Amino acid sequence: MTTDTRQVATTTDEPSFDASRVEAFAETLFGFYTGGMLTYLVDIGHTTGLFDAAAAGPATSAVLADRAGLHERYVREWLGAMVTGGVFSYEPTTGTYRLPAEHAVCLTGDTSSNLAPFSLLNTHLAKHVGQITQAFRDGGGVPYQAFRPEFTGVMDALNRGGFDEQLVSSWLDLVPGLRDRLTAGVRVADVGCGTGHAMVLLGQAFPASTFAGYDIAEDAITAARREAAEHGVDNVTFEVRDAATLTVDEPFDVVFVFDAIHDQVAPAEMLRRIHDLLAADGVLLAFEPHASSNLEDNVAHPLAPFLYAISTLHCLTVSLAHDGEGLGTVWGEQLAREMLRDAGFSDVTVREVPDEPVNALYVAHR
Ligand SMILES: C[S@@+](CC[C@H](N)C(=O)[O-])C[C@H]1O[C@@H](n2cnc3c(N)ncnc32)[C@H](O)[C@@H]1O
Repeated sequence: MTTDTRQVATTTDEPSFDASRVEAFAETLFGFYTGGMLTYLVDIGHTTGLFDAAAAGPATSAVLADRAGLHERYVREWLGAMVTGGVFSYEPTTGTYRLPAEHAVCLTGDTSSNLAPFSLLNTHLAKHVGQITQAFRDGGGVPYQAFRPEFTGVMDALNRGGFDEQLVSSWLDLVPGLRDRLTAGVRVADVGCGTGHAMVLLGQAFPASTFAGYDIAEDAITAARREAAEHGVDNVTFEVRDAATLTVDEPFDVVFVFDAIHDQVAPAEMLRRIHDLLAADGVLLAFEPHASSNLEDNVAHPLAPFLYAISTLHCLTVSLAHDGEGLGTVWGEQLAREMLRDAGFSDVTVREVPDEPVNALYVAHR
């Protein structure tokens, strides 16, 4: 068990040295390192199918290796970490390993309850630590291009389940009247759409509306077009475009942005472009991390260390790589409201998103 050592100084006096806190903090640090190492093993369990194999029932390491088509010696070592890390239980008399059903919910399946894909993010970002360290010294950053194509697939793996379960059935109803407008037929865009799954789902659910997804990444747009074609969805289009210079012939009624403002090179330009692309009664729906712009307000935020770390290792650096604004993942509500106002949006509300621990929904009217 690690001790929560997070705090904000309330005075400028240097506190007296407390030796007992050294040990507590050392434990905290080893908690970080152990969690980091186990995260790589969760990635391996997810990627190799070991969690699925274990969810089929208790088994020895040989049986598990056989089920997953893997080498037993590796599987046995991995299981050592899984047992001592509290993921599996172990019955020594039979040499049997068991993945508890409650843990299997969090590590297997196609739903957003399966948190195993989040481990992919750690593994992926870790590959760039050396380059980012260099950027601390030299300035600049690591461009988006360096993270592709792997990043595109990681984002898809993280968000697909949530879109499937929540977007059409729940999140749309956070905005009164939106479902009726989509049913009647409106023009909709998704800026920074990644692999475009949200647009495909909305295209299927609302055949009278048209949907356009834009992303600067060619690999993401290729994947998006492929998915739309596979599902025979013909009211959805995808194009490679830069959000900062986006223009269209006809205005949009609704523009979605899912997690794609804070990592922009030119987010203020992007917001101005979106404002200008909206019809007079148009609305921007932006899902962005739910946090304050002030560090001191985020100290007790349970996800704040995760968000600031992702920012350092990805969202901030991809912007700074092009001499961008470098908002970072935790740009926060106060700055978001200010930037939306500066872009011309009049009426901005921020809604909590059900079953979405990371993002808030910004509803901004033109
Ligand atoms: C964090 S990802 C989110 C992707 C997707 N919306 C999702 O929720 O899975 C941010 C996306 O914004 C795209 N992006 C970054 N800068 C862009 C720009 N200037 N114009 C268009 N897309 C951009 C990236 O390529 C990436 O696909």
